[in-house]
Amino acid sequence: MLEKQKAVQAKVKVCLVGDEGVGKTSLIRRFVSSIYDESYIRTVGTGVSKRDVEMSDEGFIVTMLIWDIMGRRDFIQLFKDAYFKHAKGVMAVFDMTRRRTLDSLTEWVGNVKSTVGDVPTIVLANKSDLEDEYEASDQDIEAAVTDKSFMWLYTSAKTGHNVELAFRELAGEMLKRFTPDPV
Ligand code: GTP
Repeated sequence: MLEKQKAVQAKVKVCLVGDEGVGKTSLIRRFVSSIYDESYIRTVGTGVSKRDVEMSDEGFIVTMLIWDIMGRRDFIQLFKDAYFKHAKGVMAVFDMTRRRTLDSLTEWVGNVKSTVGDVPTIVLANKSDLEDEYEASDQDIEAAVTDKSFMWLYTSAKTGHNVELAFRELAGEMLKRFTPDPV
């Protein structure tokens, strides 16, 4: 009988960036623990969570080490080397109900890239459940996402809309560039 081929494990660091209160912690909690909480506790520094994602088509298990980075742009210059070092992927999150959080994504992504180079990036238009309060249109998002290789998605940490898909898409992009350590 043929033995089932063992999946290769890929361990990758992912950073979530974006202004304060856009929903980074909530998206991570939704993805890692399937929970959502209305309360807002500002992230000070960083927090790291972990989830294994099976990519059965590719024969990989992607262990995502997910770094929740505080949303203070004024502090990030001081800590960016420590926070972004070795990141293999980025989720750049903004809040659909606050237009200026979209405008600041260029600076967030620029800070990551100046530290780790050109890594796969996905833009998340979060709080998509608050449709009546939108301050950005599809056109605004397309215009702001100047690097056309970036994918963008509407997400809601509250309802769970597209959260699993977003992490899986990023995992897939990171796998394309992954080289296992030699044994
Ligand atoms: P910092 O730690 O300051 O960087 O904030 P953050 O980006 O981690 O935001 P956080 O996840 O703490 O969410 C801020 C607030 O927005 C909380 O009250 C959340 O409950 C709320 N929130 C997050 N995601 C969503 C969402 O998709 N929809 C709605 N309606 N509220 C959300």
